[in-house]
Amino acid sequence: MKKTAQFKEILKSNQLEYLMEAHNGLSAIIVEETGFKGIWASGLSISAALGVRDNNEASWTQVLEVVEFMSDATSIPILLDGDTGYGNFNNMRRLVRKLEQRGAAAVCIEDKIFPKTNSFINGEKQALADMDEFVGKIKAAKDAQNDPDFSLIARLEAFISGWGIDEMMRRANAYYEAGADALLIHSKKSTPEQVLAFAENWNRPCPLVIVPTMYYSTPTEVFSKAGISTIIWANHNVRSSITAMQKTCRQIFEEQSLLNVEDKIVSVRDIFRLQKSDELAQAEERYLPKSNDRYGCIILAASQGVALGTITKDKPKTMIPISGTPILHKLIAQLRQTHIKDITVVRGYRKEEVFAPGVSFIDNDEYQATGELTSLSKAMDVKSGGLIIAFGDILFRKYILFDLLNNENDISIVVDAAWQDREYLPHDYADYVTTSKPYSLEYSEEQVFLTRMHPDIPSDKIHGEWIGLMKTTSKGTEIIKSTVNDLKNKSSFSQLRFKDLFQEVLNQGYEIHVTYITGHWLDVDNLKDLERAQEF
Ligand code: SPV
Ligand code: MG
Repeated sequence: MKKTAQFKEILKSNQLEYLMEAHNGLSAIIVEETGFKGIWASGLSISAALGVRDNNEASWTQVLEVVEFMSDATSIPILLDGDTGYGNFNNMRRLVRKLEQRGAAAVCIEDKIFPKTNSFINGEKQALADMDEFVGKIKAAKDAQNDPDFSLIARLEAFISGWGIDEMMRRANAYYEAGADALLIHSKKSTPEQVLAFAENWNRPCPLVIVPTMYYSTPTEVFSKAGISTIIWANHNVRSSITAMQKTCRQIFEEQSLLNVEDKIVSVRDIFRLQKSDELAQAEERYLPKSNDRYGCIILAASQGVALGTITKDKPKTMIPISGTPILHKLIAQLRQTHIKDITVVRGYRKEEVFAPGVSFIDNDEYQATGELTSLSKAMDVKSGGLIIAFGDILFRKYILFDLLNNENDISIVVDAAWQDREYLPHDYADYVTTSKPYSLEYSEEQVFLTRMHPDIPSDKIHGEWIGLMKTTSKGTEIIKSTVNDLKNKSSFSQLRFKDLFQEVLNQGYEIHVTYITGHWLDVDNLKDLERAQEF
């Protein structure tokens, strides 16, 4: 049911109903979960919670913002304490339209002068609004509403200002005739005599609402017997929260410890519950991309990078910053963009300097005396399923990884066909490859496969350079694992590199697919590379 219709039901109900004060989203949630049918968005409490006085110091749009948070957080109707309507009939019209837009079900306005003062502060000195002017305001409000169920409550302050029952009745009749959906009879006496006298005299079909803050000791049945429609418990959430906050603050201040406080207050988990964090977790399941659990990743980052000179004296090259961020961190960020979560980094040289959140580490402590395959086999021992395997000193454009993940081949390597555009220094090592088909701009369905990888391939036979990035499906991973295990039997195993692994894979009759790229990557072997990397 619409909130406005729910509120109408409260007013029309033939039993006594209650509205409980709230002053922000959290207190509104608490009011609803306690079981109340409706909320009193108290002007006093909202002002107090904002740290200002109940004198229209918070602007009406600031109040509107609070009401919107309250309304968004709850499904029961909200009656806003609209003070005097924040101006004349025109401001009142705009307020009603805005309240409807923000989800309030009703507004209450009082017959005083803007800026108002709380009724319990020198009430007798507070001037009442001109009755006819207030009647015009009520009519304007009723004409402005779009939803026929939106309610307007006219609040009578004549008792507060020291007037008697006659003035109250005169105004009450006028406000009712102007279209008010209910009347709020306010009194600051410590006994209920004024409101009871009014109720006894009132014989029109217009519900009465009361705020027994000052005559709180009156048993509630008295009001029910008097035919009151609705009671507003007007400020007891803001007051009880002040009590609680003062107590907790004092204790923490004095004891300089949380020890005696923790068990007396709600847990952080309770806050999450009130915020409906569960709903967000479920929505994340529905809407966020799933983590790529088909693929894990091994990053080989054990080597120092001697050709970089003193830069790698204290840390391995994987941790060298490129525009402020270590290569390793950039690489990990890229992998996470494809939702690969399970990342293992093999470290060796200055391993204590290699760190990154949320990844696991494997150490190759013999990094100095061993080659790439030793590091790979250590990581392979703990991995299964699909894998991305990358050197820890490479950077590449995002699409390269996407393309690699999107082909169905069991073993696939990325080869740069534009290898001749790269500047090599005389001692640079490069994994040149010959393939089943050189790169061509012409589109072809034909798959390309590796035939040989070696640094010494004659240049007229080179079809590209392997960039140090490959993919294996679950099946591909098993092939690589068993080939690495076969190679372990060789006495030269500690010196072997990927080229030797790939050769053995080909010898055993498996295919290694080639994904061509033309540039868009770099590795950081020497100072020149490092300089270029800054612009990558
Ligand atoms: C409020 O809660 O802001 C009210 C009720 O207007 S009272 O404080 O009793 O005037
Ligand atoms: Mg108020």
